[in-house]
Amino acid sequence: MPAADELQKQKLYAADVAAIMQVRAMGTVPKAFVRTYGCQQNVADGEKIKGMLAEMGFDFTDDENEADFILFNTCAIREHAEDRVYGNIGALKNVKRRHPSVLIAVCGCMMEQERVAERIRTTFPFVNIVFGTHVIHRLPEMMYTAVTDSKRVFLRGHESKEIVEGLPVRRDGNSRAWVTVMYGCDNFCSYCIVPYVRGREKSRHPDAIVEECRALIAEGYKEITLLGQNVNSYGKGLPEKINFSELLRRIDAIDGDYRLRFMTSHPKDATRELFDTIAESRHICHYIHLPCQSGNSRVLKEMNRRYDREKYLELIRYAKEKMPDLSITSDIIVGFPGETYEEFCDTLSLIREVEFTSLFTFIFSSRPGTKAAEMDDPVSYKEKTKWFSELLKVQEEIAASRCAKMVGSSERVLVEERNEKNGLLCGRTESSIIVEFPGGDELIGAFCDVRITEARNWILRGEKIG
Ligand code: SAH
Ligand code: SF4
Ligand code: F3S
Repeated sequence: MPAADELQKQKLYAADVAAIMQVRAMGTVPKAFVRTYGCQQNVADGEKIKGMLAEMGFDFTDDENEADFILFNTCAIREHAEDRVYGNIGALKNVKRRHPSVLIAVCGCMMEQERVAERIRTTFPFVNIVFGTHVIHRLPEMMYTAVTDSKRVFLRGHESKEIVEGLPVRRDGNSRAWVTVMYGCDNFCSYCIVPYVRGREKSRHPDAIVEECRALIAEGYKEITLLGQNVNSYGKGLPEKINFSELLRRIDAIDGDYRLRFMTSHPKDATRELFDTIAESRHICHYIHLPCQSGNSRVLKEMNRRYDREKYLELIRYAKEKMPDLSITSDIIVGFPGETYEEFCDTLSLIREVEFTSLFTFIFSSRPGTKAAEMDDPVSYKEKTKWFSELLKVQEEIAASRCAKMVGSSERVLVEERNEKNGLLCGRTESSIIVEFPGGDELIGAFCDVRITEARNWILRGEKIG
């Protein structure tokens, strides 16, 4: 069925579910509890799920105990992430005991794995709806079946070539917004589950993306982050010949007081054109998240990353030459199967050379079904945690010295919230460093010029200018 017809059909289901839920909630507004795990792509999916739930007449709550509908949107990236989800689903058994009419749904990346769906089927019989990453737009239909048939609903797979545009979105914030530009991943890095649970790369039509950004800016959003597992390969398979740099230029051409970011960039597809585009733009932050994963070329080859240490460092050199103020962050995996301590030391030396603003660091987690899960992994977990601590220490020193250098400078900060612990406003610089400073609530959601007065490790403190 074409996407537009499918969406129309779902709207009819949504109206029916709204009527049924209203009766079930006995005149009150039914409430939904939605918890999203994992990356920003999942957060963006969660916002669409909330959009559909709002269309089905739901209000939202942070308290599972007062919810009529509970949904967990899950992540499969590491074993620890999955274990946390299993623990939290298990805990819902008591909620269901107290409120037998509550509907429970579990969706997201974990559900695209057969063994996980099977475990939910057998171990958690109180879960009513299970669905995967390709069918979120069919939530109204699944809800309808669950409430009218009182049967369990399992809907997984069904990857299609078409992207369903036009789903309602209920965004979590009103100053920062996520805009997905592409779905899926074709890279099959040997450690990674994402290509199996998110399917093949599919790019959204550029006009749809530009229009979404234009509407967000008109609504007053101050920061837009474009999302994709590998935004640098944006455009593959579209009828129009377009690459990511061109997409950025089209968005950047929209007038207004806003910032543009994007993630994630894969180094194998990052081009000089990309850095030139950032440097020449009006709105794109001089900031890039460019995961290197390892600083050793043999390990990178085993990871199937398709670049080596030299290519990575060459990119960084070019980028810094173009933008001396460029802020770079990265992801690192410690203890990939077969990695030796000497090879790990190459990662340390790369980190020292690049001087990342911050790092997201992970100990390798074996994901069933991936290539790396079959590789020999002789180094003990305990040993890997030692390497991990060493890495953190090196990065902490780098981040602290970078922050210390910023004392005395003035920075444009997008204020996000108030830190409840110390009462200070809290936001981020263009380089994505956290800044805290005193000020009134009216500044939340606005840009503010701040003079940096103090560096507390990797968090800055300052005062408002003017
Ligand atoms: N598409 C992005 C990464 C998405 S997953 C990219 O290619 O850069 C986010 C991060 O999780 C990865 O960059 C990697 O560092 C980490 N990760 C993915 N699979 C992992 C695994 N099996 N074990 C440990 N870390 C993993
Ligand atoms: Fe995973 Fe690699 Fe795809 Fe990133 S590029 S999502 S690490 S397979
Ligand atoms: Fe996790 Fe899926 Fe994102 S596995 S990291 S939520 S794409």
